[in-house]
Amino acid sequence: MRLLVCGGAGFIGSNFVRLRLRESEDEVVVLDKLTYAGRRENFHDFAEDPRFHFVHGAIEDPEAVAAVLDGGAAGGAPVQAIVNFAAETHVDRSISEPDAFVRTHAQGTYVLLEAARERDLRYVQVSTDEVYGSIEDGSFTEDSPLRPSSPYSATKTGADLLVQSYFHTYGLPATICRGSNNYGPYQYPEKLIPLMILNALHGDALPVYGDGMQVRNWIHATDFGRAIGHVLEHGAPGEVYNAGGPDECPNMEVVKRIIELTSADESLIEYVTDRPGHDRRYSLSSAKVRALGWEPRVRFAEGLEQTVAWYRENTWWWEPIRSGDYRAYYERQYGRSLA
Ligand code: NAD
Ligand code: TYD
Repeated sequence: MRLLVCGGAGFIGSNFVRLRLRESEDEVVVLDKLTYAGRRENFHDFAEDPRFHFVHGAIEDPEAVAAVLDGGAAGGAPVQAIVNFAAETHVDRSISEPDAFVRTHAQGTYVLLEAARERDLRYVQVSTDEVYGSIEDGSFTEDSPLRPSSPYSATKTGADLLVQSYFHTYGLPATICRGSNNYGPYQYPEKLIPLMILNALHGDALPVYGDGMQVRNWIHATDFGRAIGHVLEHGAPGEVYNAGGPDECPNMEVVKRIIELTSADESLIEYVTDRPGHDRRYSLSSAKVRALGWEPRVRFAEGLEQTVAWYRENTWWWEPIRSGDYRAYYERQYGRSLA
């Protein structure tokens, strides 16, 4: 199958492309705007694969999308299915600068859906557990009400609703796959796990929001990537599938495990002002996608250890980030400089 992967230069998208090239016969075309989070470095080990093509462009640009779908932009045959990862993904940035979130999630998703409708293409929207909001006990199912809390999750919810409307109104064979918090290699260090790993390795303070007892349902990016592949191949049109990780963990415990794995000092932990509207706990039931034959393979303890080792060994990947614009972002967000 010739697949269009939008947002494939980011963290989960590039892990997904790597998996598809290894584990399927797919030809993959990535369309990506290369925001701060999208990096050509993420293709380093498959850039020369003849089944891989990259096109620099935005999903909200109808001409770029049409060119890539019809084979023109990547010099090949027309695309048969679209998987859309393209998004602004950091809750803290959505609080300080929400405009790009609205543009990419609303206008961008709309442009992709129109293009898919004109060509009757299979479509998978990559979404998040954050559309359900926070849950104290138990786990969200696909029928739980949508109660997003942040501009990030609200605009992701809007995109999901638009996708569903294209199934109901036009019969577009679209599915949605909602993941819990991902972690693993190639994640931009604005997110909890890579931020704490790199700060711990450098002896920088470890900024814990609020009381640090918020809980996340961690899934390794390769497990989420395989769930998305499963939904693409076996999901029923119009359906939503949740893919949650096998383990839940309070933030403070994540930070303490990272301290242990990096041999850093606990005194680096610093409680900082809480994120406004901070969701307390996320938890997904994955029974529906498990019934399609998927299950997570990576337990959190093992995956976190591998992730710490990956960051330790791949300084070439994060050094340009940590010495570039990220420093200014960090100062704005945390009111202090990095080492
Ligand atoms: P990321 O921020 O690492 O990557 C996003 C990618 O999208 C980047 O390559 C960026 O350049 C690209 N992009 C952004 N705007 C674009 C546009 N307008 N047109 C084309 N490309 C654009 O994000 P990620 O963590 O890999 O997340 C990927 C998807 O998975 C998102 O849809 C996100 O909502 C969803 N998701 C993420 C998590 C998580 O924990 N990170 C969990 C569940 C779901
Ligand atoms: P994050 O990685 O931003 O993912 P999300 O907000 O989408 O769940 O944050 C994960 C958790 O870690 C969340 O409860 C906020 C918390 N957090 C901190 O305590 N300190 C930090 O510096 C960051 C980035 C996050």
